This record gives sequence, C-alpha cells and structure tokens, in this order.
Amino acid sequence: MVTDSLSGGHPRTPGRDRLALALDVEDLDAAVALADRLHPWFGVVKVGLELFTAAGPAAVEKLARPDRRVFLDLKLHDIPTTVGKAARQVGRLGVGYVTLHTSGGVDMLRAGVEGLVAGASDAGFDDRPVALGVTVLTSDPDASAFPARLHAAVEGGCGGVVCSVRELPAVKERSQLLAVVPGIRMPGGAAHDQARVGTPADAIAAGADLLVIGRAVTAASDPEEAAAALSAATIS
Ligand code: C5P
Repeated sequence: MVTDSLSGGHPRTPGRDRLALALDVEDLDAAVALADRLHPWFGVVKVGLELFTAAGPAAVEKLARPDRRVFLDLKLHDIPTTVGKAARQVGRLGVGYVTLHTSGGVDMLRAGVEGLVAGASDAGFDDRPVALGVTVLTSDPDASAFPARLHAAVEGGCGGVVCSVRELPAVKERSQLLAVVPGIRMPGGAAHDQARVGTPADAIAAGADLLVIGRAVTAASDPEEAAAALSAATIS
C-alpha cells in the first residue's frame, strides 16, 4: 500500500478509483478539506450543483490533483446548441467525468459529447471527460423510463450512465457503458431523500464501475471510520 502526505499517514486503499466522494457543501475551502481528509479512500471527488454554483470553475482547479479526478455533476439539460456550448466549456476545465440528462434526447447528448471533445482539444488535454448520461434520478421510485434512457445514452455517444444498483444488470447486459451508481448506503443506513438505494457490496457484485458516496460517509459521526468500512465492503 502507498502513503503520501495528502493521505495523512493512512494507507491509500486499493479500489479508490472506483469511489467518488460527493462534496455537497457550499464552501470551497470546506470541500477541499473534506476531499483531502478522505483522500485515502476516494480517488474521485464529485462537484455538484451546490458547490459549482457557489464556487464555479475554481472548484475544479483547486480539487484536481494527479491522483484525484474531478467529477463535475452539472446534469446538463437544455436545447442541443446550449448543451454543446456549455459542454465545450466543461471540456476546457480538465475534469474526468461530467453528467448530462438522457431525458434531453439523443441530439442533445450528441451535442454535449461533441462539445466535450472540442473543449478538451481546445485546452490541449489528451483525455477528454467521460460523458455520463443520468438515466432516472435515484430519488425517483419510478424507474420505468430507464430502458429508453439507456438507449438514448448509447445512441448519444455517452461513455457511461448514472443509475441505481437495481438497473445495473440491464446496463451490463444491454451496453458496454460505464455504470456509475449513487444511492449507496451501508446495510440499514438511512436512505434520506433517495428512493432506489443499494449497498456497496451489491453494487460491486452487480458490476458497478464507480460508486458515488455522499451522506453514508459525510454525515457519519466518524467519516474516516465510515469511509474505511465502505471501502472494505467494496473489496471483500
Ligand atoms: O448523500 P447521497 O449519497 O445520497 O448523495 C448522492 C449524490 O449523488 C448527490 O450529490 C446527488 O446529487 C448525486 N446523484 C444522485 N442521483 C443521481 C445522480 C447524482 O443522487 N441519479
């Protein structure tokens, strides 16, 4: 195992590249402190609407490190031209992942993917961000739109989809896309506003590529202990 100054002496655990920490806070300094504190377990940090609307692109700049990728969860959803132009700006930032709503349709998704490629190329990045199509929010108990949205993600050129643990078998059977899974809770953990939740072990067993972890760790009385337990559940 590897240690470094940013890990605060904790060994960096295997599998940290498949754990994304949701930095759902409004203050950028607090977000950086949280990302650094939980760095041993999380190789990806997710900047969502709250932090991005408060701090803007500086959030990406401050959080990105060689051993930590930034997941920009903007859930883009607008007409194709607007999404394409916004995605071009995202591509210039150097993020690892970005989300778009598949309910925006295939043309919108294609425009977004093309914008990301163009933006990454403008900025000289060899790696473009992975476009993730949000299928059905994990707060929605009704996932009946999922099959059509998975199809839209494939047709729109997305590299992955965001879905709950329950839809993982369908993603793996019907596509080659990366599966990114929020709504992760330890057995018996509080669901909060999520409707379609699952455990880390079930998500990994069903083929999840990246787990999005928020309150299961950030709202725990001991976040380091919760992160270690959650990480262990994904590798045992
Ligand atoms: O705290 P919790 O683990 O529920 O946080 C989940 C995170 O994943 C939040 O940042 C939320 O915005 C995000 N997310 C989600 N469902 C989706 C896509 C993203 O919960 N379908």
